[in-house]
Amino acid sequence: MRLSPSHNVVIGSREADKAVEASDACYATITKLGLPCSVSGFSNQEAIDRSDIIILAIPFRHVEPTLASLHGFENKIVISPVNPMEKRDFFVFTPPPEGSAALLIRRLLPPETRLCSAFNTVAANKWKALTETLDLAVPVCGDDPRTKAIVLDLVRSIPGVKAYDAGPLAVSSMVECLTPLLLNIARFNKMKDVGVQFK
Ligand SMILES: NC(=O)c1ccc[n+]([C@@H]2O[C@H](COP(=O)([O-])OP(=O)(O)OC[C@H]3O[C@@H](n4cnc5c(N)ncnc54)[C@H](OP(=O)(O)O)[C@@H]3O)[C@@H](O)[C@H]2O)c1
Repeated sequence: MRLSPSHNVVIGSREADKAVEASDACYATITKLGLPCSVSGFSNQEAIDRSDIIILAIPFRHVEPTLASLHGFENKIVISPVNPMEKRDFFVFTPPPEGSAALLIRRLLPPETRLCSAFNTVAANKWKALTETLDLAVPVCGDDPRTKAIVLDLVRSIPGVKAYDAGPLAVSSMVECLTPLLLNIARFNKMKDVGVQFK
C-alpha cells in the first residue's frame, strides 16, 4: 500500500486468487485516499517473472522451501525483510548457521541475484496506518553498491521513511536482531509498534 502510489506493485501469493483479492483491497484503500495506485496480484512465480525488485515478505521458517519452489531470480534485485526469531518467555533472535536470514538467502539464491536486506525493523501496522505520517528509519545492507543505491532510493520513495546504508550484507544479523528487541521493548513497556530512528 505504501509503494503502490509511486511504483508498479505486483503482489505474489502461493494462491493467485488470494493475491488478486489483496491487490483489489489495496487499490480500493489507496484510491479512496485520492492517491494514484498501480497494483496487481499473481502467483509467486508470476510475480517474480513480472518484477525487477522482489521483496521476500514471508516468515523465516518458510524461506528455504519457498525459494526451492521458485526460479528466475537471476539478475533480479531481492530484498529480505526476514527476521529469524521465536516467541518464548520473551522474543529471541534465532539465526541460522549462516548468521542471519539474509546470509542464508544469499546461499539459497543464484549468485547473479542482487540481494539486500531492508524493511526488517518496520512493524506491519505502521505500513497499514495510512493516515499516520511515518517517521521511521530503515537500515539497508548489501554487498553491491549499485544495487544498494536502488534499494535506498526505493525506501526513500515512501514519504516519512529515511533510509541508511548500514554496510555489507554481513551486517544484516545486527539489523535482524533489532526486531525481537523492539518487540520486547513494546511488550515490557506496554507500547505498540515500536520502531527505530537514527539521530
Ligand atoms: N509483521 C511485521 O510487523 C514485520 C516487520 C518487519 C519484518 N517482518 C518480516 O517480514 C516477513 C513477513 O512477515 P509477516 O508478518 O508479513 O508474515 P505472515 O503474515 O505470517 O506471512 C506473510 C505471507 O507468507 C506466506 N506464507 C505463509 N505460510 C507460508 C508457507 N508455508 N510457505 C510459503 N509462504 C507462506 C503467506 O502468503 P500466501 O498465503 O499468500 O502465500 C503470508 O501472507 C517475516 O520474515 C518477518 O520477519 C515482519
